[in-house]
Amino acid sequence: MARRITIFDTTLRDGEQSPGASMNIEEKLEVAKQLARLKVDVIEAGFPISSQGDFDAVKAVADNIKGPAIAGLCRASKADIDRAWEALKGAKMPVIHTFLATSDIHLEKKLKKTREQVLEMAVTAVKHAKGYTEHVEFSAEDAARSDFDFLCQVVEAVIDAGATVVNIPDTVGYAIPSEFGALIAKLHKRVPNIKNAIISVHCHNDLGLATANSLAAVMNGAGQVECTINGIGERAGNAALEEVVMALNTRCDLFNAKTNVNTKEIHRASRIVSDVTGLSVQVNKAIVGANAFAHEAGIHQHGVLQDKRTYEIMDAQSVGLAQNNLVLGKHSGRHAFEDRLKSLGYSLTKAELDKSFERFKALADKKKEMFDEDLETIVADEFRVIQAKYNLEYMNVMTSMDGIPTATIRLRTDEGEIVEAGIGVGSVDAVYKTIDKMVDAKYTLLDYIVKAVTGGTDALGEVTVKLEGRNGEIYTGRGASLDIIEASAKAYLNAVNKLIRLEALRGDGGKPKDKPIL
Ligand code: KIV
Ligand code: ZN
Repeated sequence: MARRITIFDTTLRDGEQSPGASMNIEEKLEVAKQLARLKVDVIEAGFPISSQGDFDAVKAVADNIKGPAIAGLCRASKADIDRAWEALKGAKMPVIHTFLATSDIHLEKKLKKTREQVLEMAVTAVKHAKGYTEHVEFSAEDAARSDFDFLCQVVEAVIDAGATVVNIPDTVGYAIPSEFGALIAKLHKRVPNIKNAIISVHCHNDLGLATANSLAAVMNGAGQVECTINGIGERAGNAALEEVVMALNTRCDLFNAKTNVNTKEIHRASRIVSDVTGLSVQVNKAIVGANAFAHEAGIHQHGVLQDKRTYEIMDAQSVGLAQNNLVLGKHSGRHAFEDRLKSLGYSLTKAELDKSFERFKALADKKKEMFDEDLETIVADEFRVIQAKYNLEYMNVMTSMDGIPTATIRLRTDEGEIVEAGIGVGSVDAVYKTIDKMVDAKYTLLDYIVKAVTGGTDALGEVTVKLEGRNGEIYTGRGASLDIIEASAKAYLNAVNKLIRLEALRGDGGKPKDKPIL
């Protein structure tokens, strides 16, 4: 019978450590809901002691998300563990994940501790965590570069202390698959009590080997894989969940192992994570890239038309991509629209549906063909408008080859309308400078990305912007429209609105946030 591999998702913790990927509570909850739909086994929701924002987010996920176990990260110290527990205690199955480095380089240069001291700290931490919950994971940070005998000593001691999962991270992405697989096999041979815990792996992608290393570990006895959606994470990222899961599914003949993941939710999970973090997925990314299931060469297309198996090892539908994604047109009714959204996994309230349908009709009047991607973009765009302080009501932009680009903008707020005009070096610059004069907030524009949602010159344009607030936090905004200047304005306002709402919620007036401690 196929062995069951536990999927531990760390998109909200290690994934959030990707430069520029920080998520606010609402965004974390949105991702966590999708991870629950995806049926991952564990959601690592954050690192509670690292900041008040992280604490609140872990607590919100622990209190609200049902299904997966919820983990919180903490160093091997009493204060960290206590804080993690405070955030996690509302979860049905809380997991305290405590970590401590075991490699000589980390011991000497970072921790300034002896092996004996580290061994004792690890055991004390696990025992303390065990006082709160049955489910305790211990990670031997930088395990792949640790002295093997010492690593075995630590693994045995933490299992004796009560760790139910022991994680063997390749923290710096240094290992090679044959070597990493052999490490897991050797641990199984050498550690006498290893059967009393699940051996987990957590591989970074610095050499592009995170998925390969994770799979080599599974072949050699690992029972849990830690991974992130789209492979986001510290530096080059973590093993990508979609790659690990689809490799295990597609080559079950070889691995004789399976996961509980509902693969049909993979595409949507990828999109949501890319949306909230602003990190686009490269087009040729395995499983979730736009080209992952596209056949360009004539000889391939011909083969696929005869029999898909000639060039396809996976079914696009199995990861949640619709087979024929040409969907609706201007004559489509509200029911068809609602049905299609339901089949894409969206269930909207009446008000949300009304707004989205109105927007769909307006778009369908202008655009010949509507695709699933268009529908998803419309829905995402409408959700973004909800609870906004500043809403774009009117915009007129004038530009010519030698002229000065000029924007006139009207925004609606609860207090009424504001109208302003301004100039810039280009159309987008004119719009952004005008908006800057109208809104009551301080920020710096860090990034501006524009892309077409589907093919053709009548494609929806989607713009992503990143703003840095006074507290150093990054706010990602998105906007979509057939006109990229309008999409640019919406994306900018979306980020500004988020910044205003979150700074007000935190009530810190934008003061510098706690320093990251990893
Ligand atoms: O990469 C790593 O070692 C980690 C640990 C905290 C598990 O992220
Ligand atoms: Zn990591």
